Amino acid sequence: MSTRHFLTLFDASPAELRGILERAIELKGMTARGEIYEPLKNRTLAMLFEKSSTRTRVSFEVGMAQFGGHALFLSPKDTQIGRGEPVEDTAVVLSSMVDVIMVRNHSHAILEEMAAHSRVPVINGLTDRFHPCQLLADMQTWWEHRGDIAGATVAWIGDGNNMCHSYINAALQFGFKLNIGCPAGYLPDADVLEKGGSSVSVMHDPRDAVSGADLIVTDVWASMGDEAEYDQRMSDFAGFIVDEALMKLAHKDALFMHCLPAHRGEEVSAEIIDGPQSVVWDEAENRLHAQKALLEFLLAPNR
Ligand code: CP
Ligand code: NVA
Repeated sequence: MSTRHFLTLFDASPAELRGILERAIELKGMTARGEIYEPLKNRTLAMLFEKSSTRTRVSFEVGMAQFGGHALFLSPKDTQIGRGEPVEDTAVVLSSMVDVIMVRNHSHAILEEMAAHSRVPVINGLTDRFHPCQLLADMQTWWEHRGDIAGATVAWIGDGNNMCHSYINAALQFGFKLNIGCPAGYLPDADVLEKGGSSVSVMHDPRDAVSGADLIVTDVWASMGDEAEYDQRMSDFAGFIVDEALMKLAHKDALFMHCLPAHRGEEVSAEIIDGPQSVVWDEAENRLHAQKALLEFLLAPNR
């Protein structure tokens, strides 16, 4: 049987994704009750981080510890991959010793190369193109607050970046309508958008995108790797802040999500992210539970 990876949300079927979310909610309850459950005893996760992280690193590491396994933090600064060892060789060697590999790097193509040469599952912990683990947490959070997201309207406000791409994939996999409100010049990649088909609409006025929406989502205007464009982006994204005036145009019980880290006063106002419609802390915590469900799905499917 070929090795199962999780590089985008299309690496699991809609039914499997729903199963992962249901299991994440069960695992969250078990953890809250203090139940010991160790399906990954003696199993090891290698985590390769080319970019910074708080949530992704901590949630994977804690998840493996709670499952009775172990997680290794590896960075290019102190491994041979940072000195030019081929990705292919790294994948072969790591997968001869560990049971699963998580990668956070700039290039999605390199992640795919890693997966192509790995004998164990490879998980995307964020690339320049996609952030599927964050979507598991976001969808779990919606499920806990509102139930099934199928048929709902989600507004993505801001950059057509890796998170936006994963929302486009999620619109298809979870059956919601996605309005993308982004400035001209910051559209999602054409191939990703095309795949979204009629589930996705692009609008250049954020007010049109949020109108009647059930969930408003945003992200930083300058992602990791975009730092040199910071000043230009701040001026290009002016008017795209999610603030009270914009939220008022959404459904009155709409929720607000942000993958974090956030910049209050840039893409979101403090009154919204710290206000009653925001579920960002649940969203962040759910990284742990959703990824535990993902690890179990990949490594211990017959638990
Ligand atoms: N949302 C997210 O991936 O956070 P980190 O960059 O802290 O991992
Ligand atoms: N779009 C952001 C997400 C951070 C979790 C970035 O890539 O930096």
